Amino acid sequence: MSKKVFIETHGCQMNVDDSLRLLRSLAPLGYSSTTHAADADLILINTCSVREKASHKAYSAVGRYYSYKKKKPGTLLGIAGCQAQADGKDLLQRFHYLDFVLGPDQVGSLPELVQKLESKKKQVNQTARIQPADFRFVSLVPEAQETKASAYVTIMKGCDNFCSFCIVPFVRGREVSRSSTEIIEEVKRLVDQGVQEVTLLGQNVNSYGTKQQNKESRELTFAELLYQISRQTALKRLRFTTSHPKDIQQDLTFAFRDIPILAKHLHLPVQSGSNAILQKMYRTYTREEYLEIVYQLKSVCPEVALSTDIIVGFPGESEEYFGETMKLLEEVRFDFSYSFHYSPRPHTTARRYFEDDVPLKVKEERLKRLQKRQLEISQEIHESCVAKEFDVLVEGPSKLGGSLQGRNSQNRLIHFESADSCMGEFVRVKITQASQSALIGEKVS
Ligand code: SAH
Ligand code: SF4
Ligand code: F3S
Repeated sequence: MSKKVFIETHGCQMNVDDSLRLLRSLAPLGYSSTTHAADADLILINTCSVREKASHKAYSAVGRYYSYKKKKPGTLLGIAGCQAQADGKDLLQRFHYLDFVLGPDQVGSLPELVQKLESKKKQVNQTARIQPADFRFVSLVPEAQETKASAYVTIMKGCDNFCSFCIVPFVRGREVSRSSTEIIEEVKRLVDQGVQEVTLLGQNVNSYGTKQQNKESRELTFAELLYQISRQTALKRLRFTTSHPKDIQQDLTFAFRDIPILAKHLHLPVQSGSNAILQKMYRTYTREEYLEIVYQLKSVCPEVALSTDIIVGFPGESEEYFGETMKLLEEVRFDFSYSFHYSPRPHTTARRYFEDDVPLKVKEERLKRLQKRQLEISQEIHESCVAKEFDVLVEGPSKLGGSLQGRNSQNRLIHFESADSCMGEFVRVKITQASQSALIGEKVS
């Protein structure tokens, strides 16, 4: 009899990609996916721990899914992802009804773990770290029938940057780059299945190749990897995320001009516009160096869109320092920014050594001010797109007005009317209206 697995995914694209791998790895055991937790024989929560809110979300999900397990005894309940790694066996003690904890390094061992649990019900803590030299990337290309137009390809794991606020290096472990041959093979297989757009994933993709497994062989640099993917495969659009400003080299800037399939969008987290704060964050670049990258990029590729991540209320952030972040918003004019108020995280330098001295009310007020200004800038950028035409990769039904939605090269969401489905295809769309969050247009025949 076929069994059902339900996965709830929190956090970043790396977790989204891990969830897909977890799901596909269970197919040989007879599990298929369900969107109803009540039907599931296995419930898996793939968690994030980047901010305090994310941890709370993880714990409350455990409680919520316990109610399903009570109604259907025998259902396996497990936690995967970064919060699982952060807490390990403590989670099993805290939630006696949890069957297992699975760390991000252990994604590949889920089938074995489930088999073990099916025969013997005993809590399992699978959060052991795998040494960089022994780490293997799990490659599971989807079956043709479940292929979407866009796919993720993981090119590295972990992070060695240790920004002072960030828990990621502690939960995702050391940086390891995947072999370029394996990456290119995976892209080729995805293209054969009908994938049009690939997003290369990693916490710090542009340091790709600097932390390779096999010390004897020279890996490609990140820019070389982009060129090779564009030369060796028939992919239509290539994206990547996330990059770190300290690792942006000129060859990457030129790639935006010279690789036609490379989407004209760079997500480049700045975190703060103040040099004093950047230094305390251990970001290892200055505001001026960040602006220089933006200037260089815009001069070789004027149509490139930029987005960013910003933390407000980091320890020691005065009104003046925050003002420098607000000023940076004006100078760069990001298409979009993800902004958060600082929350101290376990193990990090900031939590250990810097007092969380910006009151919550001030953090919230600054965040509000920043988000309001960002929305105005996004609206202005969107208005400048009216009457222009873009190639849109259609993702699915529109969540706004039009019948369909998709993204252009700059990663802007576009809604448009269309009589035919054109799902998963590139369509030429002319923009007719703009709002803060999206563009509305019509199909150009
Ligand atoms: N690797 C990416 C970011 C990964 S985490 C990079 O280097 O840019 C995603 C975002 O979460 C970060 O860019 C940062 O803005 C935010 N973040 C991380 N730790 C945080 C913390 N302790 N408090 C608030 N925001 C945080
Ligand atoms: Fe965290 Fe910094 Fe690594 Fe990004 S680069 S994951 S912010 S430590
Ligand atoms: Fe969260 Fe882990 Fe991603 S902490 S942001 S899910 S790497």
